[in-house]
Amino acid sequence: MSTPTFQIRDVPVYGDLVLAPMDGFSDMPFRLICRELGSAMSYTEFVNVDELQGKRWPAKTARKLVYAASERPMTFQVYGSDEDRLVQAAERLLPLGPSILDLNMGCSVNTIAGRGAGAGLLCTPAKIGSIFRRLSTALPIPMTGKIRLGWDDRTRNYLEVARILEDNGAALIAVHGRTKAQAYTGTADWDAIAAVKQAVSVPVLGNGDVVTVEDIDRIQAHTGCDGVMIGRGAIGNPWIFARQMPQDVTLEDKIALVRRHLALNLQFYGEEMGLLLFRKHIVRYIDSIRLLADFRTRLLTCRQVDEFVALIAEGEEQAQLAA
Ligand SMILES: Cc1cc2nc3c(=O)[nH]c(=O)nc-3n(C[C@H](O)[C@H](O)[C@H](O)COP(=O)(O)O)c2cc1C
Repeated sequence: MSTPTFQIRDVPVYGDLVLAPMDGFSDMPFRLICRELGSAMSYTEFVNVDELQGKRWPAKTARKLVYAASERPMTFQVYGSDEDRLVQAAERLLPLGPSILDLNMGCSVNTIAGRGAGAGLLCTPAKIGSIFRRLSTALPIPMTGKIRLGWDDRTRNYLEVARILEDNGAALIAVHGRTKAQAYTGTADWDAIAAVKQAVSVPVLGNGDVVTVEDIDRIQAHTGCDGVMIGRGAIGNPWIFARQMPQDVTLEDKIALVRRHLALNLQFYGEEMGLLLFRKHIVRYIDSIRLLADFRTRLLTCRQVDEFVALIAEGEEQAQLAA
């Protein structure tokens, strides 16, 4: 086999582009689509460790942890603030066979960050150290972390946190170049990602505002990161993992992918939920397809799978005529 692009401890990764964990988006169907196009590893949507304590997990939580064998390296991402609960959750997750466990230290939603989980953990670097020390020694699989730059502009402690992570056994650090206070405003600070890459010897994934193929090249040149993590830019454009933009993809290939994604969604969630959850993808796929104005509304309000399938065929004809 060829040389891996980078290693997460003993786990080789072949490729330098990675679909970001995204709650509500990076489910198994979308991950499979992205993996087929070139995303080099998989992250689940984040999972709340509090929901993994009992014997029976909520159905929604259990579904987030379903993955295909072809997805390895498969990272389970968790969030939480209580060290013991994190350890217990990790032990419960191990039998499901993840390749890697990742701790979310980037979620900016107030209900999570405000109670010390997600980006809230950045306010307690010593606790991060303690969590990683314990988990990286207790677990047989590598432990990784995904961070933001700090809580706000006055507390950009990403270098301190990155060093603590490395010193306490983290095998990879993914860095979203914004603070918690920024949420998704402003632009991602790629200088900060470059500084993290310089400061640690474990692999670094650069993340934030990569939406074009040129952005991939620019963030790599700017930061020297080992891999590029792409979130919002992949929604409606999973071809970015093949270093293509929608305008580079033929209508035929686009429609084939939409049909395959829909089929995966229906199979994974069942018809009703599968179709409903597909709306947030189709609305983005059609951004790059020329369609009549009312067609969009018909597509987004359709509740029957057979009608939806017929609409896709109709849309294909419309787009062919418009071409
Ligand atoms: C809808 C949505 C859901 C997200 N859910 C998660 C999550 O579950 N775990 C996580 O670490 N980050 C999550 N993020 C953050 C992304 O992983 C990523 O860090 C952020 O979107 C910046 O990258 P981008 O500019 O490529 O989108 C989410 C982002 C979005 C837009």
